[in-house]
Amino acid sequence: MRVLKIGNVEIKGKVICAPMAGITNLVYRKIAREYGASLVYTEMISDKALCFQSANTYEMIKLDKKEHPVAIQLFGGEKEYLVKAVKIINETEADILDINMGCPVLKVLKSKAGSYWLKDLEDTKDKIEAIVKASTKPVTAKIRLGYDESNINVLETVKMLEKAGVQAICIHARTRSQLYRGKPQLEYIKKAKEIVSIPIIGNGDIKTIDDAIAMLEYTKCDAIMIGRGAIGNPWLFTQINHYLQTKERLKDPTYFEKLELCLRHAKEMCEIEGEKKAIKQMRTLTCYYLKGMPNSISLKNKINKVETYIEFAKLIYNYEKELEEEKWKQ
Ligand SMILES: Cc1cc2nc3c(=O)[nH]c(=O)nc-3n(C[C@H](O)[C@H](O)[C@H](O)COP(=O)(O)O)c2cc1C
Repeated sequence: MRVLKIGNVEIKGKVICAPMAGITNLVYRKIAREYGASLVYTEMISDKALCFQSANTYEMIKLDKKEHPVAIQLFGGEKEYLVKAVKIINETEADILDINMGCPVLKVLKSKAGSYWLKDLEDTKDKIEAIVKASTKPVTAKIRLGYDESNINVLETVKMLEKAGVQAICIHARTRSQLYRGKPQLEYIKKAKEIVSIPIIGNGDIKTIDDAIAMLEYTKCDAIMIGRGAIGNPWLFTQINHYLQTKERLKDPTYFEKLELCLRHAKEMCEIEGEKKAIKQMRTLTCYYLKGMPNSISLKNKINKVETYIEFAKLIYNYEKELEEEKWKQ
């Protein structure tokens, strides 16, 4: 297998797990790695929250030996805080420092962070150079095509980032104003790949093996990144890896395999987040695990009301029994 290198970090495989705020905590990342993601990212981490030693934020950058290689993703708007935050991240075991230049959320834009960085590339270059200089880890960036449809500047951005010392770039093939809607415009990833020599990671709407192949073959990107398509379905990492190695398509997991993983996810979340918070977070995640399963609406409604792991697990076991009795065919 060809190994992708980001700086001195070896990424063994072409399928990467996307950073997702509220989702890619330690438990999620460990599961993603186990099922074949070759690189995982923390949720985006605020530079100021790190500098002001927010306990919550420090929890978010706790890493586990089993999840490497792992990137910590930083967002911020002011050079002074960014550089201080980079020095804090230098002290962690993270393999890569990633800069968020794609977040479209208004609150983030107001603090001149996220995709705000796509607006003024001169200023962004200045910040990136300071970050690269302060970082002891390879620096990567995650960008969009531009701020809006009339300001698509992805080609200029990748050139600038390469020159400023960034060692790989992930491109989400949408603009800031598209948010998560509209078809990703893959032709821009293809053009970007042609004009820089650092690795390019393609991102946007990869939900099946065929989407992955299309992204890799059309854009010639070095790796692909998957966000929403793998929530509740980390088997997608395994299936794509297996296809790339053998050209064979693995079967989808059974309902029971999905439910077992959902239970494990909940249990491990309780261990790290505390039961109340974990079970609340699992309400959303469980909907993803249950996607496409028969008669799951009433289960989802019940799960929205439980507060303990025991109650949660009972509901899942009862549903498993129902499935067995009904002998639902997949
Ligand atoms: C719930 C959610 C949270 C996200 N949080 C982040 C984040 O913290 N940092 C980031 O760079 N992108 C974030 N993204 C964007 C994803 O990383 C990814 O670029 C986007 O979802 C498109 O990929 P997909 O179609 O595979 O989901 C988030 C997306 C979602 C849906």
